[in-house]
Amino acid sequence: MAEAVGEAKDDPEAVVRFSSRMHLESERLTRLVQQIIDLSRLQNNALSDDASTIKIGDLIAEACEHSATEAEHKHIEIATSVEPDLLVHGDRAQLHAAVSNLVENAVTYSPNGSRVTVTGQRDGLDIRLTVTDNGIGIPGEELDRIFERFYRVDPARARSTGGTGLGLSIVKHVAASNGGSVEVWSEPGLGSSFTLVLPAHHHDIEEENQ
Ligand SMILES: Nc1ncnc2c1ncn2[C@@H]1O[C@H](COP(=O)(O)OP(=O)(O)OP(=O)(O)O)[C@@H](O)[C@H]1O
Ligand SMILES: [Mg+2]
Repeated sequence: MAEAVGEAKDDPEAVVRFSSRMHLESERLTRLVQQIIDLSRLQNNALSDDASTIKIGDLIAEACEHSATEAEHKHIEIATSVEPDLLVHGDRAQLHAAVSNLVENAVTYSPNGSRVTVTGQRDGLDIRLTVTDNGIGIPGEELDRIFERFYRVDPARARSTGGTGLGLSIVKHVAASNGGSVEVWSEPGLGSSFTLVLPAHHHDIEEENQ
């Protein structure tokens, strides 16, 4: 692409076209490198040494913000419903990456004008963070494989969305590293629902009295 820009030096329109393409491709590469770094850090599933107390509401708000431009572009409304005072103890950067990947997928694999819902609720000792879309869905026989590295359903169609197939493997490893798990429900043509289950964090009495 850089060569093409050089060769097109007498054609300003082509230069603009090639350079915006270069911009896109370099962003894609940066993202790919970052995902590979994230994943290699995560792959030993060791508990992170960088844990803090995090509000589920903040994680959800930040993940929605991450996809806001793309959602607006596709006229997709992202609705959130989060119970108050939900806390987890975990690695903030990792959890941010996981929730952002789920919301990003929901927006990416949904048609224009559809709706994405993100909820956070308490379920006994766990917190369930669920991202639901009314998008293309995933065939049942693929559901086990989508968490594998580089796996993408329908690579021909997937090429146009430009991903690498690392997002969900990051989600799976983040869940494991933070003491949780991921659940998925999907039906082709109806939509998908991904749930990150994480142990709820309790303030102990001492902490509350401080
Ligand atoms: N909400 C969804 N609805 C429909 N298909 C989905 C959804 N989420 C994931 N998929 C399918 O699972 C595949 C793997 O998802 P994953 O997030 O791991 O990778 P990706 O989105 O292709 O690329 P990236 O690495 O950029 O996230 C996708 O290519 C897509 O086929
Ligand atoms: Mg993805």
